[in-house]
Amino acid sequence: MPEVIFYPDNIKIEVVEGENLLRAAMIAEVHINASCGGDGTCGKCRVIVETGEVEVLGRGKLTEAEIERGYHLACLTNVQGDVEVRVPVESQMGDSKILERERQIPAWGHFLSAPDVEVMATAWKHLSPTRKMFMKLPPPTIEDNLSDLERLRRELSRQISLKEVVIDPAVLKNLAVNLREKDWQITLTFLDTDDGTYLIQVEPGNATKKNYALVVDVGTTTVIAQLVDLSEGKVTAKASNYNAQISYGEDVITRIIFAGREGGLLKLQSAAVTTINNLLSELVRKAQIELQDISYMVAAGNTTMTHLLLGLDPKYIREDPYIPTISSVPLLKARDLGISLLESVYLYCFPGVASYVGGDITAGILGSGVFQSDKLTLYIDIGTNGELVLGNRDWLVSCSCSAGPAFEGGGIRNGVRATRGAIEQVRISRETLEPMILTIGQSKPGGICGSGLIDVVAELFLSGIINQKGKFNTELKTPRIRMGENGAEYVLVWAEEAGIGRDITISEVDLDNLIRAKAAIYAGITILTESVDVKIPDIERIIIAGAFGNYIEIDKAMIIGLLPEADSERFIFIGNGSLMGTRAVALSRALQKEAEKIARKMTYLELSVNPAFMDRYISALFLPHTNMDAFPKVMGMIREHRA
Ligand code: FES
Repeated sequence: MPEVIFYPDNIKIEVVEGENLLRAAMIAEVHINASCGGDGTCGKCRVIVETGEVEVLGRGKLTEAEIERGYHLACLTNVQGDVEVRVPVESQMGDSKILERERQIPAWGHFLSAPDVEVMATAWKHLSPTRKMFMKLPPPTIEDNLSDLERLRRELSRQISLKEVVIDPAVLKNLAVNLREKDWQITLTFLDTDDGTYLIQVEPGNATKKNYALVVDVGTTTVIAQLVDLSEGKVTAKASNYNAQISYGEDVITRIIFAGREGGLLKLQSAAVTTINNLLSELVRKAQIELQDISYMVAAGNTTMTHLLLGLDPKYIREDPYIPTISSVPLLKARDLGISLLESVYLYCFPGVASYVGGDITAGILGSGVFQSDKLTLYIDIGTNGELVLGNRDWLVSCSCSAGPAFEGGGIRNGVRATRGAIEQVRISRETLEPMILTIGQSKPGGICGSGLIDVVAELFLSGIINQKGKFNTELKTPRIRMGENGAEYVLVWAEEAGIGRDITISEVDLDNLIRAKAAIYAGITILTESVDVKIPDIERIIIAGAFGNYIEIDKAMIIGLLPEADSERFIFIGNGSLMGTRAVALSRALQKEAEKIARKMTYLELSVNPAFMDRYISALFLPHTNMDAFPKVMGMIREHRA
């Protein structure tokens, strides 16, 4: 792997070929001013490439004279081989005068990026619930004058046992045309279920290669959909958008209340369906396929989202003793819910465990393979709420903490989803208090996504800009700390460098929301481990799922006390676990059976009636925690930074 050396600090780092120079500096903890997120427009990330091979993506605001002297914009430069880079003093200094403090070079920093795999569960065969088969029928004659359906049945009985195949009535509608269009050559689509095999579609000609599944993670905030090519076993298109239900309430509780109003349930159900249908159109367009190429649908969501999608009243989910109408969902026709798929396409909905641990968590446990591992694993899904599962192949215990949507950007003034332009990585210079930011897609910053928020809180804390309670030190001399509408705030991006025409800030109110969210998750982890008498060091793996962005920095998440302190090697970041589970089920009918077993096996702890939860929550309302003994490594890092 190419080695990059940053001067004058002489910091070396190995990176993959093609790595962006600004990101390499970020990983190496080398500060370079960067305020346009890597868009190439602020012109602040000037570096001098002294030796080595780089790919220049652009020159931005560099002058001819600067280019001649070897200047590059780090964000527009990719590493191609061993490189020596000098960071000039102007790229390290800020608008404010340098604070009198020795520069510290921390020897830590652990990035985790979402794995580029479809499914992490192992030992399963690629055998999808739907399969296609090509068939030629003898054309009818005066002598052989069976009806179209009987002709099809006769051929089916010749080639496979007819008794085992149930013909879906949807097949009959266009049967006559479909049989004749390609001269009695047809493709049959079968759906295998526990009750038997169904013939669900007849297409003209040979369409055996065109077999796709629509998989959907129905999140409270965001709905993410993918098209899975069932022949190749891979994802061919992705699309996501806000759940249109948001206009009726941001969280599950307000939506349950809204569902109780006259016509409310119908509005919520059709909002979810409209969101899915829009994503479906986008996917079909992107993948350049026809709707009839999709033969199956899989969806996973929390218990409330599943109820609303199915049009079921979620009222009793929030009333003691918190009982959902349904946990295991029978196969349904997607069209019956209003989804714009063919009439013959069935929908499998992941089974939930309890009112606040839903099918999305079952899907995550399935897709990530926790259910088949000997290793004691803590699975943490941080979305609009925090859901936790502890266990292994023998047992699983779960709980849900009302963390709120802060790490998805909800309730944070400049919080956004992890999409293009979202700030996903942040550093703040300990000397100048100037930020270095990188955005998704290296485009102009539009807000801060989950991983960026974790970074911002940790960096503000390590820089001494905020204290353990998340309150600003307004004595510090930098124009970036000021009084805003919501009290003290730090300006991460000035309006002229932002893509939204105003300053991107993080305020004390935002920090308060983030600290409450992380405290709820940490308190949930504490209760869960205490319930089965497990200590954090006993946990062999910690899997993190959630819509943070492409990266999560484990050290930063530990510094703010969102995650328990453990060796970095024990953490795995899987991105969207729920979606991983939906892909698994689309590709393997055997895994669909496992999903049902997982949901039945998992024990659920109701935290809202647990008297110890509030105690643990209050203790966690500090950075990183009131119990510093639980964070010895983090305390060492903080001392190192503040020395
Ligand atoms: S020009 Fe590189 S970060 Fe702005």
